[in-house]
Amino acid sequence: FEQLPLQVRINGQAQQLSVEPRVTLLDLLREQLGLTGTKKGCDHGQCGACTVHVDGQRVNACLTLALTTEGREVTTIEGLGSEDKLHCMQEAFLRHDGFQCGYCTPGQIMSAVACVREGHADTPEQVREYMSGNICRCGAYANIVAAILDVKA
Ligand code: FES
Repeated sequence: FEQLPLQVRINGQAQQLSVEPRVTLLDLLREQLGLTGTKKGCDHGQCGACTVHVDGQRVNACLTLALTTEGREVTTIEGLGSEDKLHCMQEAFLRHDGFQCGYCTPGQIMSAVACVREGHADTPEQVREYMSGNICRCGAYANIVAAILDVKA
């Protein structure tokens, strides 16, 4: 298949890549770049496991063609904290046990950061509504909401 050039910043690093037009951002991250923190659950925009930020906005990486990120800044769970310090949302999830198996956690945390940043974390209801696209099969929802409200507080 034909490959096209893609220039994109990923977790603060400029990348010059060659990508097939059909490749999703999710597959680019996981298979071409080895950034496997972003998870593939449904691959159909239904579960939120693949949530990342593009220019600070959350997106489902499975629904985003990689080439549409040309010139943009992509942030994944690997780029959220710094080298030696977790992001405050990651710490809050630890404090509140906001996970069980952990598979949905990177996507939950990327959505949670966007939830607070966009001002949807004033009440538990707002948080639940904003986070409704992130499914957790273990049912850790109550602790996830508590972690987000804690960061907001
Ligand atoms: Fe993208 Fe489920 S893998 S929403």
